[in-house]
Amino acid sequence: MRDKAAHLTLEGTTYTLPLIEGTESEKAIDIQPLRFQSPYTVHDLGYASTSSCLSAITFVDGQKGILRHRGYAIEELAAKASFTELAYLLFHSTLPNPCQLRGFEDVIEHSFFIDKNLEIIAATLPLEASPLALFATVLASLATFPPFLSESKEEASSLDTLGLSLLAKIAALVCLVYRKKYAVPKPQPRAGLPYAQQVLYQFFGSGPEGDPHFSQKAKALDTFLLLHADHEQNCSTATVRMIASSGGSLLSAVGGGLAALSGPLHGGANQAVIPMLEAIARQGDEGQSFIQRAKKGEAKLMGFGHRVYKNHDPRALILKQLVETLLDTLSLKDPLFAIAKELEHRALKDPYFIERQVYPNLDFYSGILLKALNIPQDFFTLFFAMGRAAGWFAHYKELVLAEKRPLYRPRQVYIGPTLRPFLALDKREVDPSTGL
Ligand code: SDX
Repeated sequence: MRDKAAHLTLEGTTYTLPLIEGTESEKAIDIQPLRFQSPYTVHDLGYASTSSCLSAITFVDGQKGILRHRGYAIEELAAKASFTELAYLLFHSTLPNPCQLRGFEDVIEHSFFIDKNLEIIAATLPLEASPLALFATVLASLATFPPFLSESKEEASSLDTLGLSLLAKIAALVCLVYRKKYAVPKPQPRAGLPYAQQVLYQFFGSGPEGDPHFSQKAKALDTFLLLHADHEQNCSTATVRMIASSGGSLLSAVGGGLAALSGPLHGGANQAVIPMLEAIARQGDEGQSFIQRAKKGEAKLMGFGHRVYKNHDPRALILKQLVETLLDTLSLKDPLFAIAKELEHRALKDPYFIERQVYPNLDFYSGILLKALNIPQDFFTLFFAMGRAAGWFAHYKELVLAEKRPLYRPRQVYIGPTLRPFLALDKREVDPSTGL
């Protein structure tokens, strides 16, 4: 970079701030010295222009619609890799050879078993609770069972064991919650099933012998999980890193990530798309009136827009094709898919969305895929979490093992009352408007 520093002059003093350039030519001003040399902090509501860390896991170019994991394009990974292969890549920075992948998948397969007492805890929970609330409860309870009981983070190997175990346990607990909600016993893990097949088997209680399309459905789910695995500093992953920075446990960090993911602006969006499409179907106008409401700020096109992508989200393009293929394989017709495609077509021609660079994101078509797999809508975000657990772990590990890992502690600009004297209770006036 030509000039290795930025020069900022404030109230007559010039501060020299180093410049940082990443391997994909992303540029940043390292403003860390500013607070120590001046009374200034920088204000960035929502962190839209803030880089919180140096990371080697995922690269996103929002202007060009590029997503790469450790240098591999998402399009190649989705076409040629499995979810567990990508998880290995995220955890270990390289694609696994056959022996490494077999060993990785063996550990995952054996980690699908859940302690009987955890099943008893799940059985005591109120059935009417949301799947997310049920899952968050049993996930937190994992901390009271091995291997999470005593999380030793001294070396990467024990951390990897926890990460692998988590990848399986999160899937197994989603299945446990579903089986509980529908009052059917959860089958024990079945030896020899690849990850996505194991999930479908434990979720629905039937394997390949009962369903001629079992392997195609599992392949669709596997690609869904791969597409959800990681996305650099999204809200939930940033939350995981925030908790990791204080030395919080992997499980508590993942619990925080799940909480952030559950919001409708983030991972909860996939559960909001279906009702939006159903409402549009009832209106019968192919989304025209809904688009008008969105343009007036009265509604949001759920599954559209992104803080980083100002071009097509490559994952949405892959998911749209995946839905097409799956519905065709299953000889299913989902009217919501046609409505979704028409809504996309109309929005992408509308100046309001063009000016704001609002495109379909990961969540727009993902719900239609899960619906085709008969996964209930209130489980969609949990399937997002199942995939994202790989990224959460990779970022947790990257931070914990980093040479520099300062506590995440942002500053603020205070806008509250200035100093004022304390008023004794009997001196405080009654509010005439309320009489209180
Ligand atoms: C995910 O960060 C990640 O990587 C997330 C994710 C991942 O893999 O982890 O990719 C997954 O969470 C995808 C996002 C899922 N959320 C939704 O689909 C909810 C709907 N989307 C929006 O709420 C919104 O697009 C956000 C929250 C996703 C991003 O919003 P920003 O970056 O804060 O931008 P903004 O809300 O300030 O919008 C800029 C303009 C505004 O118009 P003006 O006020 O400038 O006139 O664009 C408009 C917004 O009103 N806009 C939308 C819109 N998204 C943006 N208008 C209607 N519908 C939308 N969906």
